[in-house]
Amino acid sequence: MTVNTPLCFRGKSILAPMVRVGTLPMRLLALDYGADIVYCEELIDIKMLQCKRVVNEVLETVDFVAPNERVVFRTCERERHCVVFQMGSADAERALAVAKLVESDVAGIDINMGCPKEYSTKGGMGAALLSDPDKIESILTTLVKGICKPVTCKIRILPSVEDTVNLVKRIEKTGIAAIAVHGRKKEERPQHPVHCDVIKAISEAVSIPVIANGGSHDFIREYMDIETFQKATAASSVMIARAAMWNPSIFRKEGLFPLRKVMQDYIKYAVRYDNHYTNTKYCLCQMLREQLETTQGKKLHAAQSTQEICEVFEMADFYEETTTIFTAKKTSLETKIQDEDDQMEDPDVIKMAVRFDKREYPPQITPKMYLLEWCRKEKHPQPIYETVQRPLDRLFCSVVTVAEQKYKSTL
Ligand SMILES: Cc1cc2nc3c(=O)[nH]c(=O)nc-3n(C[C@H](O)[C@H](O)[C@H](O)COP(=O)(O)O)c2cc1C
Repeated sequence: MTVNTPLCFRGKSILAPMVRVGTLPMRLLALDYGADIVYCEELIDIKMLQCKRVVNEVLETVDFVAPNERVVFRTCERERHCVVFQMGSADAERALAVAKLVESDVAGIDINMGCPKEYSTKGGMGAALLSDPDKIESILTTLVKGICKPVTCKIRILPSVEDTVNLVKRIEKTGIAAIAVHGRKKEERPQHPVHCDVIKAISEAVSIPVIANGGSHDFIREYMDIETFQKATAASSVMIARAAMWNPSIFRKEGLFPLRKVMQDYIKYAVRYDNHYTNTKYCLCQMLREQLETTQGKKLHAAQSTQEICEVFEMADFYEETTTIFTAKKTSLETKIQDEDDQMEDPDVIKMAVRFDKREYPPQITPKMYLLEWCRKEKHPQPIYETVQRPLDRLFCSVVTVAEQKYKSTL
């Protein structure tokens, strides 16, 4: 069923953004177990801007693929109405360009303003934004005005309660749909106690939904604790990171599932969505934690492919069955595309033999930039590219719509 109502951030249990952890298998599993909204891992604007949007017909996903062919962000219909795309950005125009790129495939856009790591802050992103409220304002207002999906941001608290509340009040004025507050200062580590009182002061001072975060260690060990944390912070919703990384069935009303079942459920999604084995392994290791020294833990550590991971968890048959289905699907798609290419010509698309020769362009300038500039001058909407990867030869083919006409290069 397709749900088109905008995301509501009240009374929700939310999977927090987590680098490497919050990829598609984890997000889908959290949803299965009862999460209402799932955030993807933080993805940096510059990296996203190099990506192409590709419809993957074999997996039935939408992939954002980097020039080196690595999938940077993979999503699917199941989560389209509840996945929030978290971005690292320090630039309003770049943030808007990325938001537009992913907007139709996600339910909301979030800006990370809490990451204290140097790789984020030295580029002016993450927690560095907290000391630049003008930039926060410019990024958020640009996004709120520029896209149709709800915009949120995730912050950490400042040294004083008063400054934090004032900052959130200013952020509220940008028109964002909700704000996630990790109740720690940027110097504080995850094992430091979370400041529920500060989240509470924020919740009481603003009208937009406040999403409380930071409770995994002190509060949240099972489902019932989610409500305790919500009450302690007077927040509208709760966002969970580590407790969900250790066992995503934390979102289950009926209680935690044993880790073995959770790991097998996770692996099913990892295989089904062709997750990179290093990412699958990383997430499973986070779940195993103190059991990493067991025989199973050691075997997992040694695994060098998805197939080997499946063998560790006695899921070799599942791997075999799933990959056989994919191979058959790929073959049938290849045949279909070959037939279509041979027989069917889309009369709406103008085909021209346009070759891209780098030497004909100034350094750093691409044909896409020229076309964008031309559209601006001629007052046409910006060009829309629809790109698919041909399963046959894995080449990317785009059709561009300019001034209501579709074009395609035959080369
Ligand atoms: C492995 C890991 C990766 C994280 N990556 C991100 C991220 O990409 N973006 C972000 O805003 N916070 C990130 N965080 C911070 C969490 O979203 C969250 O704010 C923090 O862990 C506190 O919540 P918790 O007590 O529920 O763990 C990460 C945390 C962990 C443990």
